[in-house]
Amino acid sequence: MLSTIILSYIVSVTFQACAINVFIPLTAPTNSSSISPSHISFSIEQDRWTDWPGATTKNEFVSNALNNLASLAGEPPRLRIGADSEDRTNFQPGLKLTETVFAPPSAATPYPEAESVVVGEAFYKAAQNLLPGTHVTWGVNFKALNLTAAFLEAGAIADAFTSFPASSGLSLDAIEIGNEADLYTNNGGRPANFTIAQYVTQWTSFASNVSLTVPIGPNTTTKFWGGAFAGSDHSSTGFSPQGLFANGILSSTPGNLINTISQHVYSGSGLGCGSISTCIQDLMSKAFVRGNLSQFIPDVAATQAQGLAYVLGETNSYFDHGTNVVGNVFSGAALWALDYALFASLLGIERLYFHEGVGYKYNFIQPVTLNLSIVDGTPLAEPLLPHIQPAYYGAIVTAEAIGKTGRVSELSINSDVVSGYAFYTNEGQLSKAVFVNSEGFFSNSGANRTSVHLDINFASTGQSPSHMSVKRLEIGHADDTDGLTWGGQTYETPNAQVSGTLSVITSDVGEGLDIPATQAVLLTFST
Ligand SMILES: *[C@@H]1O[C@H](CO)[C@@H](O)[C@H](O)[C@H]1NC(C)=O
Ligand SMILES: *[C@@H]1O[C@H](CO)[C@@H](O)[C@H](O)[C@H]1NC(C)=O
Ligand SMILES: *[C@@H]1O[C@H](CO)[C@@H](O)[C@H](O)[C@H]1NC(C)=O
Ligand SMILES: *[C@@H]1O[C@H](CO)[C@@H](O)[C@H](O)[C@H]1NC(C)=O
Ligand SMILES: *[C@@H]1O[C@H](CO)[C@@H](O)[C@H](O)[C@H]1NC(C)=O
Ligand SMILES: *[C@@H]1O[C@H](CO)[C@@H](O)[C@H](O)[C@H]1NC(C)=O
Ligand SMILES: *[C@@H]1O[C@H](CO)[C@@H](O)[C@H](O)[C@H]1NC(C)=O
Ligand SMILES: *[C@@H]1O[C@H](CO)[C@@H](O)[C@H](O)[C@H]1NC(C)=O
Repeated sequence: MLSTIILSYIVSVTFQACAINVFIPLTAPTNSSSISPSHISFSIEQDRWTDWPGATTKNEFVSNALNNLASLAGEPPRLRIGADSEDRTNFQPGLKLTETVFAPPSAATPYPEAESVVVGEAFYKAAQNLLPGTHVTWGVNFKALNLTAAFLEAGAIADAFTSFPASSGLSLDAIEIGNEADLYTNNGGRPANFTIAQYVTQWTSFASNVSLTVPIGPNTTTKFWGGAFAGSDHSSTGFSPQGLFANGILSSTPGNLINTISQHVYSGSGLGCGSISTCIQDLMSKAFVRGNLSQFIPDVAATQAQGLAYVLGETNSYFDHGTNVVGNVFSGAALWALDYALFASLLGIERLYFHEGVGYKYNFIQPVTLNLSIVDGTPLAEPLLPHIQPAYYGAIVTAEAIGKTGRVSELSINSDVVSGYAFYTNEGQLSKAVFVNSEGFFSNSGANRTSVHLDINFASTGQSPSHMSVKRLEIGHADDTDGLTWGGQTYETPNAQVSGTLSVITSDVGEGLDIPATQAVLLTFST
């Protein structure tokens, strides 16, 4: 008898804990953030860059995958091309094909970065195969301290963009000089006593030359990105935006042409996170996403105080291509990407460039046929055709939520597992909301899937919406590698075009909604 009473008590408490009241302001709160249609953008590892657009003929798969995002959000994702191999690149005029030297694949690193890359004009001209209207930031080699190499690369980048017809709308946003210079002392690029002050001096000398070569000036649309550091010590004496500013970079002639500070960040190595389910649950959890991004609050403030934009110019889940943790390839990464990108916008992060390389585990898109397993580097029995990976759905949901709106704000939700965001038109009217239930539901759990009920209230007077369409990102298990659907449709198709019958239901706002564990939902409100 006693045990029955205790059991029913626990059941009722658990049940109550699963109904949450959410208040949604009808007009954009003053602290809402504007959000760009290209909020989710991509950083491409330079060594195999031409695989993405296609070296000569257009890569239709990649083009379709990016066009899906452009159609939903209203602008193609922007690209930053560079990263580690940017600093291993040299230029040889007339070279038609990229000359690369790769270390052999290993179980830990099935798709290593090239140790050396030599490129010609054709390498940069491949950008002509990008979607019309794509904005590009390109990196030049700084680590080698070979000004001739940087000068030739910058000149070829500029020539490529000058050669594109105006109708292509392709635009060179910025040049980045060097990748993660704060790590140069660890990887042989600079002596151990290399300081931020020396960095600023060397950067200024390279940037002076590059600014005249491209050209980059007060009246050109092309500018410089500053920083691109792997980390930030947030101080005026170290590698950080604060350190750049304190050492006078912005008062130099080329430094005055920096319009954006770029920061790189990964969610750690993932080493030692434990079982696959623990690693996935860690990554997608609400606290983890918030903890990892909040470290940059002072850097964003310091950057905005100078009137500059702040972006995550290279980011993704666990670093080294997601090498150490297979968790990156699993469906939970879709919810991580969604929550991570939306939360970042609230901190004043203007855009995120999710890092992609051929065969990297954490990719949103695999651009070409793979012949080796991305998990352990073993030869595949059947080649794996170009395909999207689960995180791509996070980008799709984000693009659709942003589409035709202009501002976003976080909803205060009394839950460790549910996060929520409201989207407003540029005029400040509520249009949509996204909710993410990041409680992992795993294939081996043996438990029943939990669900959270949300009761929706509008937290101000005015004409409240009475109906909402409900579109769900359905995921079998957080550790599935495929089989996700968005409104009943799939992007796991041979050409990356959406397939299947759209399934969206319309219901009364007053009924609220249930969100099962490991699912995201987009609500679109109507009266
Ligand atoms: C915006 O304001 C609300 C209400 O004052 C607050 O709960 C929320 O934390 C603020 N959000 C941000 C990103 O500052
Ligand atoms: C840039 O550096 C290159 C290589 O040293 C040199 O040939 C070129 O004249 C320089 N350009 C300018 C504008 O200083
Ligand atoms: C610097 O780059 C130029 C241009 O590719 C090359 O000719 C030269 O050998 C490089 N210098 C060094 C020291 O590697
Ligand atoms: C930094 O170290 C190098 C040797 O690695 C030395 O030649 C140089 O003088 C040092 N510079 C300073 C400022 O200490
Ligand atoms: C930039 O444009 C302004 C206003 O048109 C002009 O005064 C200035 O000389 C231009 N600067 C350069 C470097 O061309
Ligand atoms: C991200 O969050 C996890 C969990 O709190 C933590 O272990 C990791 O160090 C964080 N990474 C960064 C770069 O802050
Ligand atoms: C896989 O093999 C095919 C056929 O040989 C080739 O076209 C493709 O480039 C290979 N993929 C990679 C990533 O090397
Ligand atoms: C799952 O739910 C069913 C139906 O309510 C119940 O019979 C079963 O015991 C539950 N299983 C677990 C593991 O809780």
